[in-house]
Amino acid sequence: MNFKRNIIITGGAGFIGSHVVRLFVNNYPEYKIINLDKLTYAGNLANLKDIEDKPNYRFVKMDICDFDGVYQLMQDEHVDGIIHLAAESHVDRSIKDPFTFAQTNVMGTLSLLQAANQIYSASRIPHSAFKFYHISTDEVYGALELTHPLGIEPPFTTKASSGKHHLAYGDQFFTEDKKYQPHSPYSASKASSDHFVRAFHDTYGLPTVITNCSNNYGPYQFPEKLIPLFINNIRHRKPLPVYGKGENVRDWLYVEDHARAIDLIFHEGKVGETYNIGGFNEWKNIDLIKVLINTVDRLLGRKEGEDMDLITYVTDRAGHDLRYAIDSSKLQRELGWEPSLQFEEGIEKTVRWYLDHQEWLDNVTSGDYQKYYEEYYGKE
Ligand code: NAD
Ligand code: TYD
Repeated sequence: MNFKRNIIITGGAGFIGSHVVRLFVNNYPEYKIINLDKLTYAGNLANLKDIEDKPNYRFVKMDICDFDGVYQLMQDEHVDGIIHLAAESHVDRSIKDPFTFAQTNVMGTLSLLQAANQIYSASRIPHSAFKFYHISTDEVYGALELTHPLGIEPPFTTKASSGKHHLAYGDQFFTEDKKYQPHSPYSASKASSDHFVRAFHDTYGLPTVITNCSNNYGPYQFPEKLIPLFINNIRHRKPLPVYGKGENVRDWLYVEDHARAIDLIFHEGKVGETYNIGGFNEWKNIDLIKVLINTVDRLLGRKEGEDMDLITYVTDRAGHDLRYAIDSSKLQRELGWEPSLQFEEGIEKTVRWYLDHQEWLDNVTSGDYQKYYEEYYGKE
């Protein structure tokens, strides 16, 4: 079968990647979607059960660092688009094992860029169609302060350059021209990969685009990250380890809104550009945790708030960034993207999903999910 486009999505078995793969496979039957994933601890093919038999989907188990394998795959599949999400993504793991982060996030991205550039330069594919889209994080910009302009206690209402009013914990935001100042080994490795992507655009003319997104939440997130970990712990009445005083601020976006932004930017984003993605939705960790406790309690028929005593303050994360806050005005202005969900709606949906998918969580926490590849695709 001839497809209109042949697109590799890396990291498609992970949290955000699985939403992006599902969206592309369902919305673009005329595209072939090749999910390239190494299946590390964070890769779970059960995330994609509903689309794995579709004729426009192929899974390839491969390490992005395997240059020869990646190059061959791009050649065999006549690839004209790469949406690159594969990465080591957890800050706490990066503090314990920075080498793996440099290997996958920096060397792996370089391997993909080099292969894509060789294919692009030699290919007969119309150059206007080719795109290398690199998915990155707001954490590359470093940390913002909590500020009190005019003596107002945060959060206070402010107005973005898009004209949108929102609550904020400071008067500074991450815009696309903000200086990179990563603090964790994770953000340092992502910053480095972003620099390589720009270098390939500026040096070789590879048509690239980069987006830097705020914290995502929603179904299929590995339960080492705050929201799924805490939902699971509240359900099972296990302690909730709050780092430091719980005063850190994160800017949260529902994962399907990120996937929609990726679709839009892949098709309409300007080559060589960077777009920040975020929902103007800042939350102090401790306030978010209280919302999670109330929501889980209510949905389980418990008395709202009865599990507040699970909150356990623990030693702070080393180098813990105080505040992230994305200004996504450029994306809203230039491409018309808007988040579709209010946070309260998104959290309710997310909590319901984890409560309804205890089996998914149990498979992940027991390690059984790692057997799925062999069960479905057979022994290697
Ligand atoms: P994740 O950890 O859930 O998934 C990562 C996926 O990449 C897994 O399927 C894993 O198997 C795969 N992978 C890891 N190393 C690989 C390698 N060497 N070769 C091939 N595949 C490999 O991550 P996520 O949260 O879905 O994040 C996806 C991307 O989005 C990352 O690049 C991350 O930096 C970025 N991002 C994440 C967030 C967030 O809040 N989660 C926010 C902004 C940006
Ligand atoms: P996380 O989900 O790891 O995302 P990131 O570090 O990329 O922002 O953490 C979100 C916030 O929650 C962050 O400020 C660290 C904090 N946190 C805790 O307080 N306890 C936890 O057990 C975890 C995993 C995170």
